[in-house]
Amino acid sequence: TVVVLDFGSQTTQLIARRVREAGVYCEIHPCTVSADEVAAMRPSGLILSGGPLSVYDEGSPQVDPALLSLETPGGGAVPVLGICYGLQALAHALGGGVEASDHREFGRAPIVAHEEDALFRGVPEGSVVWMSHGDHLTRLPAGFRSIAATDNAPIAAVAAEADSEHGPIWGVQFHPEVVHSEHGAAMLGNFVTEICGLKGDWTMGSFIDEKTAEIRETVGDDHVVLGLSGGVDSSVAAALLHRAIGDQLTCVFVDNGLLRSGEFEQVQTTFRDGFDIDLRAVDASDLFLDRLAGVEDPEEKRRIIGRTFIEVFEAETEAITERLGHKPRFLAQGTLYPDVIESVSFKGPSATIKTHHNVGGLPEKLGFDLIEPFRELFKDEVRDVGRALGVPDAIIRRHPFPGPGLAVRVLGPVTREACELLRQADRIWLEELERSGTYDDVWQAFAVLLPVQSVGVMGDFRTYEQAACLRAVTSTDGMTADWARLPYEVLGRASNRIINEVRGINRVAYDVSSKPPATIEWE
Ligand code: XMP
Repeated sequence: TVVVLDFGSQTTQLIARRVREAGVYCEIHPCTVSADEVAAMRPSGLILSGGPLSVYDEGSPQVDPALLSLETPGGGAVPVLGICYGLQALAHALGGGVEASDHREFGRAPIVAHEEDALFRGVPEGSVVWMSHGDHLTRLPAGFRSIAATDNAPIAAVAAEADSEHGPIWGVQFHPEVVHSEHGAAMLGNFVTEICGLKGDWTMGSFIDEKTAEIRETVGDDHVVLGLSGGVDSSVAAALLHRAIGDQLTCVFVDNGLLRSGEFEQVQTTFRDGFDIDLRAVDASDLFLDRLAGVEDPEEKRRIIGRTFIEVFEAETEAITERLGHKPRFLAQGTLYPDVIESVSFKGPSATIKTHHNVGGLPEKLGFDLIEPFRELFKDEVRDVGRALGVPDAIIRRHPFPGPGLAVRVLGPVTREACELLRQADRIWLEELERSGTYDDVWQAFAVLLPVQSVGVMGDFRTYEQAACLRAVTSTDGMTADWARLPYEVLGRASNRIINEVRGINRVAYDVSSKPPATIEWE
């Protein structure tokens, strides 16, 4: 294992990705964990991330020198790599000099590196790296030497060999984890394989085998329930758990009346018929829609849906309890790594913005022990696991869908009729994206039903019907997004078909707002 300590950089997750791409398992922890806690993780390598502060700022996180002399499981000192702030903080802790520059160095810079250094093996001379820092190193701690320079920075990377006073420690002033650093991935790969001596054989296949064994061991002969939503994460979790424990798993899938077209049937066909999973599909649409009647406020909609979901889920677990003769001990969830990181990260910037996204989740008071097999994985890694387990492509490729479903896409009060109109428009929109081969180019696409009517003409008749708005965005994580520049023909075909085929919609618009300042959903 390689441990990454997060000092608050926006790109800490990318460090973990690059390390895993090199076939080495790694975990991110906040920089506030103690040296003893890190030692207990038995790391073979330690990476200190960048961060927004200066080492001289009040309250800025410092590096405990004890972190710099840990022992590996096989004996010997744990190699450390400091990135940007991580380098400054470790140099500061070891008596080096760090100073603020008059101007921040920001952007691309070619480096001249010592090719014989293990960190730069295979990295060509003049390779471009991405700089983003205010402070820089002016004096090296004892035993360190500069191993790379840029035009502006004579100390762009440093090393202290294993036999030096403090080593083995490496440090870079730039950000090797971002794609703008041409050979940055190779440098991180060199650190974990060449310097830490790790094999680089961590793959999805070994992940599945390890998790399967771990789940069997944890569950024993007890029972697990899982709330299946039809989305990627819970679907792949269902497939993995089923592989591990077979019929000791029961999935609960709730139709809240707010699902997309054909979804209720598709999920049942896939998991009950395809995987032979014990699936309880509950049609609770009346309950949800009755409670939503007349409600306009989006947050109120979310609260009602969240509360009702918990109620329905509890009733289902009671039925399962009755059948088994005891309460199932475990609840499985498809929690992903970014969700976990967001809640532990030092000065995590986005924790509060996302709270409402937990709608559809279950509170702790239900009294289950949690099983979260993907806590260490990124979304695309979960997709790889799903493919390896035979989850159909239609589910693996699926765009994210919010827990409150169509309720936040029917603007204003939610009715059955409005949901049905929207479902049809949405289905056509997604069909046209598939047909034009653009579905996979966008992060998320959907239709919104606007609470306005407008005049149209069809044949000799005047129409007065509702307007729909199409949305398609590109994004990497949903935190920021841009509207997708789709070909006019695709927009044109979708608009034509919706107006012709969906009775009740006579006008279609395309949303050209980015996030921020707009959000992806309209409510
Ligand atoms: P916004 O609209 O905040 O959405 O830009 C960002 C991402 O989160 C999804 N989203 C939700 N997911 N429950 C969810 O499970 C919610 O209440 C919710 N609201 C938004 C949205 O679809 C997008 O992917």
